[in-house]
Amino acid sequence: MKKTYSSSAYSNHDVLVIGGGAAGLSLALKIAEFTKVTILSKSSLRQGSTYYAQGGIAAVLDMQDSEISHVEDTLLAGAGLCHRDIVEYAVSRGPECIEWLMHQGVQFSLLDKGHKHESASNNASTFSDFHLTQEGGHSHRRVIHAADATGKAIFKSLSEKVLANTNIRVLTNTVAIDLIISGKPGDKDKRCTGAYILDENTGAISTYNARFVVLATGGASKAYLYTSNPDGASGDGIAMAWRAGCRVANLEFNQFHPTCLYHPHAKSFLITEAIRGEGGILRLPDGHRFMPAYDKRAELAPRDIVARAIDSEMKRLGCNCVFLDITHKSPEFIQEHFPGILKKCLKYGIDIRTEQIPVVPAAHYSCGGIMVDKDGKTDVTNLYAIGETSFTGLHGANRMASNSLLECFVFAFSAAEHIQQKLDTTKFNAKPPIWDESRVTDSDEDVVISHNWEEIRRLMWDYVGIVRTDKRLRRAANRIELLKHEIQEYYGNYKISTNLLELRNLALVAELIIRSAIHRKESRGLHFTLDYPNQLENSTDTILDPENS
Ligand code: FAD
Ligand code: SIN
Repeated sequence: MKKTYSSSAYSNHDVLVIGGGAAGLSLALKIAEFTKVTILSKSSLRQGSTYYAQGGIAAVLDMQDSEISHVEDTLLAGAGLCHRDIVEYAVSRGPECIEWLMHQGVQFSLLDKGHKHESASNNASTFSDFHLTQEGGHSHRRVIHAADATGKAIFKSLSEKVLANTNIRVLTNTVAIDLIISGKPGDKDKRCTGAYILDENTGAISTYNARFVVLATGGASKAYLYTSNPDGASGDGIAMAWRAGCRVANLEFNQFHPTCLYHPHAKSFLITEAIRGEGGILRLPDGHRFMPAYDKRAELAPRDIVARAIDSEMKRLGCNCVFLDITHKSPEFIQEHFPGILKKCLKYGIDIRTEQIPVVPAAHYSCGGIMVDKDGKTDVTNLYAIGETSFTGLHGANRMASNSLLECFVFAFSAAEHIQQKLDTTKFNAKPPIWDESRVTDSDEDVVISHNWEEIRRLMWDYVGIVRTDKRLRRAANRIELLKHEIQEYYGNYKISTNLLELRNLALVAELIIRSAIHRKESRGLHFTLDYPNQLENSTDTILDPENS
């Protein structure tokens, strides 16, 4: 039977930040210095990727290191598609971000007593006491970290500051459905004036009127069956921005992390690249070390190379996993540097101090996203995107390890600075449109949602994974078209839930990933296709525009 739900309430927000991970929390703290801000998050605040980050944050903190070296390493890992100006900008703001995080109370790991390196700060003592690790693609130790739980340390300090700040309102279990845009399709000057929001607890939908909206919604790796990401990584920001008229770029470059724990009961558990940074060796089931045959940097080659090598060895041998071996390090070193991984693996009966860790690649990071400029501005006025949901040009065809958290902070800072400049001249929308759900019913077929979730994630894994072909991509495109149609019909008829919203977004983002992959007629970075195994001489970003779709 058709039901009518009460029409939505509305409220005003100076700055509405959708997402409470590293990007959203740091932007909110910066904005709160000059105005009021509301942060929304699906489920609890800690359910973004940030909380699970392990390895650390890349920044030039040692005198032996240099900005130019960090820039060159990033460009090399990015396989020719990084935007040099953006890389230089992000690298140049790294130390400032780390100092700010320390000021917020983040406790990074210290060097062993008696050791010091030369700090790259004007204030010589700022960084010299901190342990820096190394990860794939980096030619120096430049990753500052909090043991193997850097994300947790960042999250703890930033969320405490946010919750204590009277200029910041935090709403959890609150899901953004779509952005409110003034202006008709095709209009040059589109403005974002707020968003429609679902309260997960009550099922009510409200209109949030905002002077500025910032998407900080994280990535889309949940599009793949096997992923290191938490459940909410369904690409909501990318999907909302696309529907609002924003261009997206380079979505074919979804990064697969080479080493996630392979165990029937371990869901999405990452084994940090820092283990390889500290000398960890990748071995086949018979103990043979295979990475030197693939790249002279061996285990410390960029992720695309290591993940592809593992995939190829697993296919060649028909084995379910390969092994990561850190047993050459002392038990004390392992306990001090990798306590979280040690504990988690022990839970599954693997003692990493004496045994090798079974690992497989899994979808980890969306290098592409919503196109933004240096200030986080999208194609729509007053709409910003920061963090993993955005495409700044920093990562090119393959993100270098630990450059993601750096990007979250750098562009949160620059977006906050830009919003501050525009605050006085940006008004609320006097008549925000109210959400109408008078024609929808309660669904009695939730099985459709779970079935479609599973189908999308499996087809993305099988057809749009580490190694691609034209035929597989076309098959994926056909399947996703049908699924999208079915989901859209469901969306139009039934009362919405978080699962349905995420499914609708995931299907759209999967389609955009497939279209981007079909568009790229070469193999570069994370996009590898058997039909075009070589790199084009002149390659550019893959830009999709909703106006031409
Ligand atoms: P997230 O932290 O993912 O936060 C997204 C937020 O948006 C969440 O609060 C979510 O609830 C909210 N949200 C999403 N959609 C909606 C919606 N529709 N409505 C309301 N709220 C919504 N990078 C590094 O640089 N170094 C590392 O060591 C590192 N380790 C990693 C380890 C793991 C296991 C993983 C998964 C990633 C790692 N990464 C690392 C990547 C890095 O953690 C992420 O790219 C980064 O944390 C993303 O931050 P974010 O703020 O953009 O998004
Ligand atoms: C890791 O610790 O291996 C993850 C680092 C990253 O994704 O940058």
